[in-house]
Amino acid sequence: MSEQQPPAKPWSGRFNAPTDAFVEAFTASVGFDRRLYRQDIAGSIAHATMLARCGILSEAERDLIVAGLERIRDRIEAGDFAWSVTLEDVHMNIESALTGDIGEAGKKLHTGRSRNDQVATDIRLWLRDEIDAIAAELRRLQRALLNLAEREAETVMPGFTHLQTAQPITFGHHMMAWFEMLDRDHGRMADCRRRLNRMPLGAAALAGTTFPIDRAYTAELLGFDAPMENSLDAVSDRDFAIEFTSAAALVMMHLSRMSEELVIWSSAQFGFIELADAFCTGSSIMPQKKNPDVPELVRGKSGRVFGHLMALLTLMKAQPLAYNKDNQEDKEPLFDTVDSLRGSLKIFADMVPAITCRPDMMRTAALKGFATATDLADYLVRKGTPFRDAHEVVGKAVAYCIDQEKDLADLTLEELRRFSEAIDTEVFEVLTLEGSVAARNHLGGTAPGQVRAAIARARQRVDD
Ligand code: ARG
Repeated sequence: MSEQQPPAKPWSGRFNAPTDAFVEAFTASVGFDRRLYRQDIAGSIAHATMLARCGILSEAERDLIVAGLERIRDRIEAGDFAWSVTLEDVHMNIESALTGDIGEAGKKLHTGRSRNDQVATDIRLWLRDEIDAIAAELRRLQRALLNLAEREAETVMPGFTHLQTAQPITFGHHMMAWFEMLDRDHGRMADCRRRLNRMPLGAAALAGTTFPIDRAYTAELLGFDAPMENSLDAVSDRDFAIEFTSAAALVMMHLSRMSEELVIWSSAQFGFIELADAFCTGSSIMPQKKNPDVPELVRGKSGRVFGHLMALLTLMKAQPLAYNKDNQEDKEPLFDTVDSLRGSLKIFADMVPAITCRPDMMRTAALKGFATATDLADYLVRKGTPFRDAHEVVGKAVAYCIDQEKDLADLTLEELRRFSEAIDTEVFEVLTLEGSVAARNHLGGTAPGQVRAAIARARQRVDD
């Protein structure tokens, strides 16, 4: 007989003494796994529906269970549900409340399942929804980049290697590089979702159940592609969490690179762009400051997501099959990964459309640092000079320019011809920034026409 005391633990039968109070708090997960309540209830409704269809529950019992679970969901959403640490986790809290509400039928819900297959199912259902939201956010950011790329398809800026002036590029081309990074991320998320969408339920504790269940039916009710093949694997696998966190770490790494460039570009020294006031903050002491806090914080948040990836790998390392309590530690890193990633993507997708470009500043910067030196070398090659000799000639011309404090385009034909007689008057077209970008006119090149073609192809990809 169970007494009318604090809620009885569903597993208390074989115990004579109560759990140590600190052990109870230490082993409980309800403080964080209550976040899975919707998935837990959806999984239980599908399980009960399947049990009734297989004749394991009566239809009346199923109806009581389903209605009871829906009432609990409403109560949780209304903030009218008392979570109990004594009841350890979200699963036992909900089951206990159900039995309190509908009586005997509630006690039958756990037939043919275990918390081990239940929790594995809940996390997969939860992460599946989160991946869908993340994929949509990635697309929103990608579209914002496409619009910015289109707007600035002709805007010339210096391209860098080693953060030293390399060759002129268009701002649109740079935005399309970011787009491609995110497009691979979108693909990785889709890939992860495909492997994740298998159902553990029916594995029960580890070996399956003695009841004549229909796993394919439960899987169909929950939108899984299929039940998992092996019951031991079903309850012990957390590959999907690691795979997701690794894909998330890559997105964050990409966002940190974008952040770094936004921070550099918005500095007074570069002045290539301005971020909207709504995405910056001031300084409490320096009145002139407008700090790019948002990209800085996103850059910083990449670190915690990388840490979660290492935490999850280490969590799973060397665990014997099948379920171990260690696995309860999968949730907080996973939840924080999702929160950090979704927040970062949202803020980027909101911030990017509000970026103002300063083409004059980009142009001035592109004119410094001899960005068209390669164009001059290529010109000489077209005139019959071997590339290595052309490289040498232009190197000497650059040294001369540095000495004279001039740009290559400022030199007279006379001066240029001192370095190579192959040089003619049409060389000046080659030395302009516009001529330089327009000349890189092939698939993947920076010419404005190529950037526009890349944008058109990309629009089709994101609309698929
Ligand atoms: N709270 C547990 C977890 O998150 C649920 C599964 C517990 N199963 C068990 N046999 N103790 O992993």
